[in-house]
Amino acid sequence: MSRSRGHFAWIGGVLLLVAAASVLGGCRQKMADQPYYQPLSKQKSEIFADNRSSRPLVEHTVARGHLRDGSLLYTGRVNGQFAEVFPFPVTREVLRRGQERYNIFCAPCHGQTGLGNGMIVQRGHAPAASYHDDRLVTAPVGYFFDVITNGFGRMYAYNAQIAPEDRWAIVAYVRALQYSRRATLEDVPEAERVKLTAQAQAADAAPGAAGGGH
Ligand code: HEC
Repeated sequence: MSRSRGHFAWIGGVLLLVAAASVLGGCRQKMADQPYYQPLSKQKSEIFADNRSSRPLVEHTVARGHLRDGSLLYTGRVNGQFAEVFPFPVTREVLRRGQERYNIFCAPCHGQTGLGNGMIVQRGHAPAASYHDDRLVTAPVGYFFDVITNGFGRMYAYNAQIAPEDRWAIVAYVRALQYSRRATLEDVPEAERVKLTAQAQAADAAPGAAGGGH
C-alpha cells in the first residue's frame, strides 16, 4: 500500500517537471525562435523580387558613427587650410599606437628614424622624403595627414589601409621623430635629465653590458 502511494507521488513529480519544462520552453520559443535569416547566408527571401535576404544598403544612408563630414578628423584642414592642431589630444597611448602603425606602414620606405632610407628604398624604390628636412619640420600636422590620405608624387595614398584616427596617430609619431633629432638637453625635464645622465654614466662604465659584446 505504502509502496504504491510512493509510486504515485513519483509519477506526479515527473508530470510536474514536464509541465514546468513546457511552460518555460514555450517562453524561450517566443523570444528566440522567431523566423529570421542568417546574415549573408544562401537563404532565400520570398519578399523581394531578387530573392536576396541580405539587402544592399539604401543609397545615401550612413551608418551611425560613420559620417565623414568635412571636419578636421577627415580632411586635416580647418577653413580650407592645413591644420596646425590635432583633432584629439595626443596622449602617450596615441603616440604608442602611432609608433606601431608607423613602423608597419611607413618605416619600410621612410626608415625607422624617418630619414627616408627604409629597406624598400635601399632595394631600389624611389627615395622617400626625410622628415628632418626644414620644409617638413615646419609643415603643419594637417599636411602630413593629407600626404598619408591622398599620397604625394610617387608615394601612394594610404586612406584605404589606415583609418583616419590611426593616420593622426602616425602624424603625432612623425612629429616625435622630428623632435627627437632637434631636441636639446634643456628640452628634457630636470628630473628625467638626472636619470638620463645616470644611465649614460652607467653605460660608459660598462660598455659591453648594453651591446651584448663578447
Ligand atoms: C612604398 C614606399 C613609401 C611608403 C610605404 C610611404 N612613403 Fe611617404 N614617400 C615615399 C616617397 C617615394 C616619397 C617622395 C615622393 C615624391 O617626392 O615624389 C614620399 C614622401 C613623403 C612625404 C613628404 C611629402 C613632401 O612634401 O615632400 C611625407 C610627409 C610622407 N611621405 C609620409 C609618409 C607616411 C607618414 C607614411 C606611412 C603612412 C609613408 N609616407 C609611407 C614613399 C613611401
